[in-house]
Formats: sequence, C-alpha cells, structure tokens
Amino acid sequence: MTERKSPTAVLHEGPRALTDEQVREIEETELDGVLAVDIDDVIEYVHRDLKSLPDFMTLYRRYLKQRWDVYDLDFTQDKIDWTEKMTAEERESFTAISSGFHHGERQVEIELPVFMIGASEEEKVHIAAQIEDEARHTVFFDRFYREVVGLDGDDIMDVLDASFPWVSETFVGPFGLLAYQADEVRLNPYDERARVRYGTTYFLWIEGVLALSVMKVTLSYARWRGVLPAYYTGFTATCRDESRHVQGGMKYLQDAVRKDPTMIHEIHNTLRTILSMSGVASRRIYFEPLGWTEEEVNLLFIQQLRRKLNDVGIDLAPDLEEMLNYVKPELAGG
Ligand SMILES: [Fe+2]
Ligand SMILES: [Fe+2]
Repeated sequence: MTERKSPTAVLHEGPRALTDEQVREIEETELDGVLAVDIDDVIEYVHRDLKSLPDFMTLYRRYLKQRWDVYDLDFTQDKIDWTEKMTAEERESFTAISSGFHHGERQVEIELPVFMIGASEEEKVHIAAQIEDEARHTVFFDRFYREVVGLDGDDIMDVLDASFPWVSETFVGPFGLLAYQADEVRLNPYDERARVRYGTTYFLWIEGVLALSVMKVTLSYARWRGVLPAYYTGFTATCRDESRHVQGGMKYLQDAVRKDPTMIHEIHNTLRTILSMSGVASRRIYFEPLGWTEEEVNLLFIQQLRRKLNDVGIDLAPDLEEMLNYVKPELAGG
C-alpha cells in the first residue's frame, strides 16, 4: 500500500505541470510499461492540448502509435487481489462504479457510427479509430467481469446482463439521452444542431466529465491499495485513448461554436437537461470504501466540467453556474 494524500488535498492543488519527459512517457509507453504511469498525469495530459487543440489527423497518428492489444493483459494477479486482498465493501463499491463503464463502453461503441455520416473526411478517420478504441474497451470490461469479478455468460450481452443490477440509475440518464440524440442524428445526419447536442452529451459530459472522474476514482484506489495490476494497466491505457476522444470532441464543439456562435445555446441546453436529471439516484454508490467521499467526487465532476469548458473557451450561462452548486451527479462512463 503506498502513501495516500486525501482526494480533497489533491483536488485543491489545482493543475499539475507536466514536464516534456512525462508527456513523452504518457504518449509513447508500451502496454507493459503503463503500470508505472500515474493516472493523475494522464488526466492532466487530457487537458494539456485543449488550449491549442490537435487536428484530427494528428489524433489519428497518435492512435496508430498508442493502440494496445487487450489480449496482452493477464488478469491472474487481479483475480487473487479481488478474492484475497479486497474487502467485501471495496468489491461492492468497485463493481458499482465499474458497471457504469462496462455498459458505457458498449453503448458508445454502438452509438458512434451515426456521428460519422455528417463529419468532415478528417473527422471520419478520427472517429473510425475511436470506434475501434471503444470496441477494445468493451472487450477489456468483458474480460475483467469474466476473469476477475467472476460473471459467466455465453456472449458479451450475457455478461452485460449479469452486471446490470449494479449499474447506478444515472446510467439511464446520460446514456438514455445519448440514445435519443443518436436517433436524432440518425434521422438528420447533417443537422449541425443535433450533432452539437449529441457531441455535448457524448464527448463533453460522458467522456470528459464522467469517464475521466471514474477513472481517477478507481485507478487512484488501485494504486493506493496496490491491487488489480492488469485493470490498472488496461484502464490507464484506456484513459490515454479517452484523452484523444475528448480532444477530438472538444475540437468539434469549438469549431461548431466558432462557425456559428448560436451553437452555444445547444451546448447549454444539453447541459441543463443533464444536470437537471442528475440528482435522482435510487441505487447509491458508496465511494468511501475506495477512499473517496461523495463531496469529493462531486467536486471532481465540477472541476472536470469547468476545465474542459474554460480550455476551449466556452462560458457557462449564469443559471448553469447556479445548478452546479447544488447538483449531485452520479457515476457512469464511456
Ligand atoms: Fe471508451
Ligand atoms: Fe471514448
């Protein structure tokens, strides 16, 4: 077990500065070296390029270098940690959080193709790569649930069905909204307003806020307790993939607002919808066994949202600022 600073202390430290050496380590590490990479540095890396967003072909070149083989992971030690080192409370909290991801990865994989239709050629190349990333993340969770958590099933959907009882209700919120918005885009693939609404839910909220926050909670737990090395490796590599998805998504939203400043209303309205449905949760997630309080997780969400918006130069409307003060979003991910 390594020494652990409280999440509150870390959250108040503010942005970390990454050296060129750290950036190289994050960008170029092969899968077997990922265990040594600190998750906080990877999350910092997501924001590093947001002010001068890389273009889609640069992101595609990074994808070609960074893609990893999900079958290179060996979950033997994770299984031992899961049954022998982790307490029942830790397992329960961990499963409650990771099940949002288990379902989230699969859903974003199947909702993404419609967004390609109205995209520029360069963005299509980037999204094609992103779909492959999300498919790999789906397989990663399928393996984790079979080989570590111990759920059985003949196929991917069987294992998803088995983890569904743990999924927090908020999954039904942002993911239900995304399914609805994906249908809108399917019907009118060139409707830029529908695409911006979809992009706000998917790239800004689900990937930029929920996914990165959940990653930070579960990966900092695994590092602090010294458990689940294959989960840590695969999910940190996943976080590096998500940094490309968030950067691509923020580039899309930034370009859309620059082309037509009234698009900001679509972003604000979508955030209003998401924040208004986020307070409801009949299946609560208890973060304490993983070393986090609910307040710390809420603070993390809000920090993640503000940083994305600030970095790409999108302001919040005053009523949204107010909503952020009392809303308590729950966890899911993609
Ligand atoms: Fe993903
Ligand atoms: Fe993603």
